[in-house]
Amino acid sequence: MGIHFGVDYYPEHWPHERWETDAKLMQEMGVQVVRMAEFSWFKMEPEEGLFQFEWLEEAVALLDRYGIKTILGTPTAAPPAWIIEQNPEIQPIDRQGRRRHFGGRHHDCQSNATYREHICRFVTAMSQRFADNSGVIGWQIDNELGNSHGDLCMCDSCKGRFQQWLWEKYGTIEHLNETWGTAFWSQGYNRFSQISTPLITAVGENPSAMLDWKCFCSDLIVDFAKWQADIIRKYCPNHFITHNYMCFDDKVNYYDLGELLDFVSNDIYPAGHWQQQPHQPENELAASHDVVRSYKKMPFWMMEQQSGMAGWEIMGRALEPGQMSAWAMQSVAHGADAIVFFRWRTCAMGTEQYWHGILGHSGNPGRIFREAKALIHRFSQYMDDFEGSMPCPQAAIVHNFRQNYAFQIQPHHPELTYIGQLQKYYKAFYDKKIPVDFVQETDDLSKYQLVVAPLQYLMTPELEQHYIDYVAQGGNLVLTMRTGVKDATNLCMINRELPGRLGELCGIEVPEYDCLLQTKGGVLYGKKEYEIEKWCDIITLIDARQLAEYSTGFYQGTPAITENNYEWGKVWYVGTEPGEELLEELVDYFAKQSKVETLGTAPAGVELMTREDKEHRWLFVINHTNEEMVYNLHDTYIMLEGEKEQFLKPYEIQLFWKNIS
Ligand code: GAL
Ligand code: ZN
Repeated sequence: MGIHFGVDYYPEHWPHERWETDAKLMQEMGVQVVRMAEFSWFKMEPEEGLFQFEWLEEAVALLDRYGIKTILGTPTAAPPAWIIEQNPEIQPIDRQGRRRHFGGRHHDCQSNATYREHICRFVTAMSQRFADNSGVIGWQIDNELGNSHGDLCMCDSCKGRFQQWLWEKYGTIEHLNETWGTAFWSQGYNRFSQISTPLITAVGENPSAMLDWKCFCSDLIVDFAKWQADIIRKYCPNHFITHNYMCFDDKVNYYDLGELLDFVSNDIYPAGHWQQQPHQPENELAASHDVVRSYKKMPFWMMEQQSGMAGWEIMGRALEPGQMSAWAMQSVAHGADAIVFFRWRTCAMGTEQYWHGILGHSGNPGRIFREAKALIHRFSQYMDDFEGSMPCPQAAIVHNFRQNYAFQIQPHHPELTYIGQLQKYYKAFYDKKIPVDFVQETDDLSKYQLVVAPLQYLMTPELEQHYIDYVAQGGNLVLTMRTGVKDATNLCMINRELPGRLGELCGIEVPEYDCLLQTKGGVLYGKKEYEIEKWCDIITLIDARQLAEYSTGFYQGTPAITENNYEWGKVWYVGTEPGEELLEELVDYFAKQSKVETLGTAPAGVELMTREDKEHRWLFVINHTNEEMVYNLHDTYIMLEGEKEQFLKPYEIQLFWKNIS
């Protein structure tokens, strides 16, 4: 497409006279695309059926004259007051049974038929109006679907739809009663119409019901997006459709949503005020990019890349000179074909007055503008070559929304999270400069030399077979604690020892376990003792060999980590959560055993990553610190950009190239 840099722009926040100055400055910066209008419903339809798109057409045309194309957002995350006045029932209900009211955003119920009609009317008018506008290239549906909808919506419309969804899934109420295990606490239902959305209970919840609820919510959001996508596809066949994801966010299954889209986009704010540290660690950002790439297994766009201090009521740290560029090129290194910075100019009004952009309130181009301009002018020339190329990791980590939901419902240990566990394994690879793909467990795993599948808690016979086949054919697999515990409906499996059939693959049984509540434990690996946390599977060896043993607990001296050869492959079972130090050792061992290569050696804060097409491999070296750094590559590359190979200045980005045809 040849479009690689842009900004999120809100012309409606600024006097009309300013627009041309903005366009000129954008052009000077190298902006090729803007996203507009994703919250501007009132401005486009101030009264029902009174469409006022002229201002937007004017902005699109003006920008187009400066060589800047437009992505339009549908404004359905912010229905205007007149809709709410007319149809207050479209405001969502939370788990306490309270209505969430107008005054912020996301005050919408996504199943509500009346709201769907408003959307149909509006999106039809908008897409008809812009279908043949030469300045418009594509659409973003809604904005960050799932954001602020954490525990929504409990209304009667959602209740009816949930009942319908359950009826389609289970057919009979007896079947539902059985799969939900409603014999417990007298929860049996006579008919589907008795089933409620999960309003707050006196105490406790049914884990199977909650898993269905979470899957239902995801399906509802996908359906909500499809409602709009179908309209846009009908009237704008030449435009692309995307959506701005939120990294690992889990409200909507992003793999499912991706099927509606031409490509996936993502939003990332590393230095938000909610971060525990000045900014989110680079390994976590890298993991986010990698999972976003996995949602459609293709390059993606950054629709909101942080360009300034982030804040609503509280603010995060200011970005150091070079930091924004390093983060932007990190996105590119992991598969972004375009970087759209949020936002063009810091807004003077509303909730996001302190969510800073490329320009400050003053509107004068300053430090950030100059940095963005330099970045774009330096790297634009390569972006066409990178477009479409992909990282090609030899190792993969399995990611699945349902496993995540199951651990949200029952975390086991107060600090155990599914995504946290994935991130922890990921970091061990990242620190070793080993690129990683995220995959869904049902994907073809055979192209990876090493697959790590943490917390394979919900298990099916098909998935057991899939893992067995992967290893039998020569794959190297890491399974962990809490594997094969439950069936797909979140009921515990019975009449077998853990981890079920995968026990044959691993050569072990797990007859007992221990939760390390309010304590940590230890293992002996090699000659050294290492810390472990959260959980210990108590393992009996059948065919496997012990790799590490517990040094704490009544099961001291029994296996904690095991290794087993199975046909042509190898499988490791990690019966605990290794501390960071142990995990580094283990991943090193797993990678070596699986012949997975590292890109080089470098201290923490220096990132190495590659993308490739049929002929080229590009290597990105990024210094995410404000200090000088040294690194070493494990292969010979030609330097494309940068000062001096092996040496990095603070926040320096270096590019290399190599022919692989
Ligand atoms: C994103 C959102 C934007 C803006 C930004 C800053 O989550 O998509 O609309 O709100 O955060 O808060
Ligand atoms: Zn609802």
